[in-house]
Amino acid sequence: MGKQPSVRVASPRQLTSELVVIGCFKGRAPDTSRLPSGLTNAAGRAVERSGWKGKEKQIARAQSRSKQPSQVVVHGLGRAADFGSRELARWSAKAVQTAADEGYRDLLLVLPDHPAVKGRAAFRLLVDLGLSGYRFDRFQSKTSRSRLRTIRVLPPAGEDASYKAMLKVANKVVPAVAFGRDLANTPPNEANPEWMAGEAGRLAKTRSMKIKVLGPKELTRMGMGGILAVGGGSSSPPRLVRLEWGSGSQTISFVGKGVTFDTGGISIKPAGGMDEMKYDKSGACTVLGIAQAAADLELPFHFRAYLPLAENMPDGMSYRPGDIVRCYNGKTVEVLNTDAEGRMILADALSWAAEEEPGTLLEYSTLTGASVVAIGHHAASLYTPDDYLAAELLDAAEDSNERLWRMPLWPEYREEMKGTHADLRNVAGRWGGANTAAAFLSQFVGKTERWAHLDIAATAYVAGDQKGTKGATGYGVALTSAWLLELANRF
Ligand code: BES
Ligand code: MN
Ligand code: ZN
Repeated sequence: MGKQPSVRVASPRQLTSELVVIGCFKGRAPDTSRLPSGLTNAAGRAVERSGWKGKEKQIARAQSRSKQPSQVVVHGLGRAADFGSRELARWSAKAVQTAADEGYRDLLLVLPDHPAVKGRAAFRLLVDLGLSGYRFDRFQSKTSRSRLRTIRVLPPAGEDASYKAMLKVANKVVPAVAFGRDLANTPPNEANPEWMAGEAGRLAKTRSMKIKVLGPKELTRMGMGGILAVGGGSSSPPRLVRLEWGSGSQTISFVGKGVTFDTGGISIKPAGGMDEMKYDKSGACTVLGIAQAAADLELPFHFRAYLPLAENMPDGMSYRPGDIVRCYNGKTVEVLNTDAEGRMILADALSWAAEEEPGTLLEYSTLTGASVVAIGHHAASLYTPDDYLAAELLDAAEDSNERLWRMPLWPEYREEMKGTHADLRNVAGRWGGANTAAAFLSQFVGKTERWAHLDIAATAYVAGDQKGTKGATGYGVALTSAWLLELANRF
């Protein structure tokens, strides 16, 4: 993670900045009620020009006339009635982009007076601004950095205190998201299971967490047949990491899929886009990001995290279609496709997590292409039998602007996952592939009732053929932080 611009809440008494961006709704004058006359006048001059309507993305500029002149940009927000968190995110990104492109060192964002900017809406805005300088440029010989160092935000009247409180929270979440992204972006020739376990170890050390790392020997002793099968074809042997930290009457456990590279194994994937499978460890990376955030926010809960780590490779030692594997909870699985490896390693990790009786169990995985087919890249898929947990997570998705969409866990899908010669098979027919995968996982949560599976295949990274900044998104870290903050009454 490179140098981030620092984000501050602007003091209304001291408003100078090289660049001032003011949001303005269609059909209204720019809201300059909190600005000094120099900036107010400049905003007025900017919009006096003919053609100003305040349409979304429309821009008007003027220079303020003072000793330290500012470039004032009035930026159209569209109709107030259509304005929401997504429009706010687009607008703030555009403002930061302008500041960076034009070489300014500091930016003042004057927020519009609108419900979409108030209260907890500040959370995602401040996290987005904090992450605006994120780059993964560790492998770039020449790096180009913008000069932008400071972003000040002027909230609407009455919101200063809540923005300041939210900034403290955002300042913990931003590095946690960046940490998750850095891990997921790290290429698979470096980020193998041992490397991931080492990163977990570093986190554990700096945050005084308990850590246990199981290698092939311990995995064999414990009967973790799924992880051993998937990791068998790789010369980088598998690991299972267990972290524990925090205290409180509630135990919250996280599980994250950590396939450091997914070739598909013997059921090998086609060549096109296979490089994207370096992101198949994103679930584990998100869980490490969440762990960092939960520790740094000092949330009053007892936490555990389980990271099954394996590389799925074709080899003489690989598991094969037809194999029958016994998982940690004793259930046997008939392997029909070695590319359905995520559920094999999650079966062991979920069984262990469930055995230790958490109050809530959340699992994150880039599990199925089918979930991407179902909703495109716009949301992750949520599976949970618990309506309360669903409502909580969907609320947190709103607050974090990390979309989630609930999907079904009907018994018919479970039926489709029954094996011929084993208890289960690891793939069913063609249709409803994300749902049958979830139905498979549901058989490894034991007596846990409050559990959820988040299939993040659609949202964990932005690939070459998609719009937006390429690479890992850290999806789930902000979402889960929002959920935990609400649970702790800190939101
Ligand atoms: N890691 C993939 C799922 C995936 C696909 C993640 C695209 C991100 C983008 C997973 O291990 C996989 O290969 N799933 C198969 C399951 C199938 C064999 C039942 C899939 O989705 O095709
Ligand atoms: Mn696969
Ligand atoms: Zn996979």
